[in-house]
Amino acid sequence: MTEADGQRGTNGEEQDTAEAEATGAAGDKPVKQRKNGLYPAVSDELAAVMKSGWADTERRGLEPIPQARHTAARRAAVSARFPGERIVVPAGNLRRRSNDTDYPFRAATEYAHLTGDQTQDAVLVLEPLAEGGHEATAYLLPRSDRENGEFWLHGQGELWVGRRNSLAEAEQLLGLPCRDVRTVTDVLREATGPVRVVRGHNAGVEAALADKVTAERDAELTVFLSELRLVKDDFEIAELERACASTARGFEDVVKVLDRAEATSERYIEGTFFLRARVEGNDVGYGSICASGPHATTLHWVRNDGPVRSGDLLLLDAGVETRHLYTADVTRTLPVSGRFTPLQRKIYDAVHAAQEAGIAAVKPGAAYRDFHDAAQRVLAEHLVAWGLLEGTVERVLELGLQRRWTLHGTGHMLGIDVHDCAHARIEAYVDCTLEPGMVLTVEPGLYFQADDVTVPEEYRGIGVRIEDDILVTAEGHRNLSAALPRASAEVESWMAALRG
Ligand code: GLY
Ligand code: MN
Ligand code: MN
Repeated sequence: MTEADGQRGTNGEEQDTAEAEATGAAGDKPVKQRKNGLYPAVSDELAAVMKSGWADTERRGLEPIPQARHTAARRAAVSARFPGERIVVPAGNLRRRSNDTDYPFRAATEYAHLTGDQTQDAVLVLEPLAEGGHEATAYLLPRSDRENGEFWLHGQGELWVGRRNSLAEAEQLLGLPCRDVRTVTDVLREATGPVRVVRGHNAGVEAALADKVTAERDAELTVFLSELRLVKDDFEIAELERACASTARGFEDVVKVLDRAEATSERYIEGTFFLRARVEGNDVGYGSICASGPHATTLHWVRNDGPVRSGDLLLLDAGVETRHLYTADVTRTLPVSGRFTPLQRKIYDAVHAAQEAGIAAVKPGAAYRDFHDAAQRVLAEHLVAWGLLEGTVERVLELGLQRRWTLHGTGHMLGIDVHDCAHARIEAYVDCTLEPGMVLTVEPGLYFQADDVTVPEEYRGIGVRIEDDILVTAEGHRNLSAALPRASAEVESWMAALRG
């Protein structure tokens, strides 16, 4: 179905000299209109009918969104860091999938973090005030205009995509002034004084600012906003707890349908987990990795089109993203049959021991690198003990030889993004000291590729990763994903109980 009962696509490519352009959503193509205010042409009678007869649905006295207090504090931190500068944070635009269909919209992390809002095309502007500080304004697409037919004749009209908040409603919900986003590029073009923009989300806004910004100064803004997310507030921690709880239920769903996955493919697992994510949350926080058998040795196996066979391991790395966009990131490696073989158990238990050592190293005051080093040491010890590596463990670690089979870092920060705070400086992240409120994954693994002739044949095609989401607390840490068992025997009894 396209606009005008299938006669035209969203962008109305056909030309009409009588057309006048009205401004569309920021970053979108303009809504084209005929001079009579309607496009495509409709009869005067229909136009009149469509304009009138609609109830007043304006909502008044709305409570602010639950995170409004926190978003205000985050914006205050930005204001303090960039005094006297105009700060521009776009939410991003829809991305075209094909013709007139788009990918699902997901607001830019920086915008969602500073506003709690997820409106496509929106832009947050922090305007410096003469007396110091900033005034924050959210520029949003208001409700569709009924006078010019926009609400039923344009692909982003409310009769096509659903009711939006009015600007007055958005002001109550977000707790900050809201203006029409169709004015934002003009406002920014005319603005004087220093300005920075978060790049990569809204080409129209960036074009309007092109002669006022520099890549270096904009990068400083992105780095600051990334580091602002390193320590989570109470709202964020509650969201991550929620994400982990939903994720645990999604893993249980998968265990219950392993028989059906065996009869079909890894896709059944992906679809099963997605159902939980979509019903309880917003989406999955990243492409689910549903890797059975030798696919488990591919770190980011997201094709998920292979068979699921009894006797193999299933590496499931998946996370529910909550409706406020916080994601879990959890991995369990499960025997499809419900029982590990002796070799699978040996490898699994080694990874579990490494993860235990890594988690134990997560505490306030510890170096961020400690948990990685602790886990890598345990893995190196096992690889040496199994005869896969020669020499002392110290030498192995010094030369990094274990990495042939451990492959990746042992974890990362977690939050709105699965790899959160990715633009933080090395000294603020990898070289930092852990603080209460940080949330990170601990996810060691061992991966023996199917074509790795340096290991005994029976190892080949086995991949194991165990991943949990760990909150740094004042006392030490709390495992937010502890609802899912990790020890091999507990995994087996958990699976048996779920499968009946
Ligand atoms: N799910 C990707 C990762 O664990 O980092
Ligand atoms: Mn991870
Ligand atoms: Mn993961």
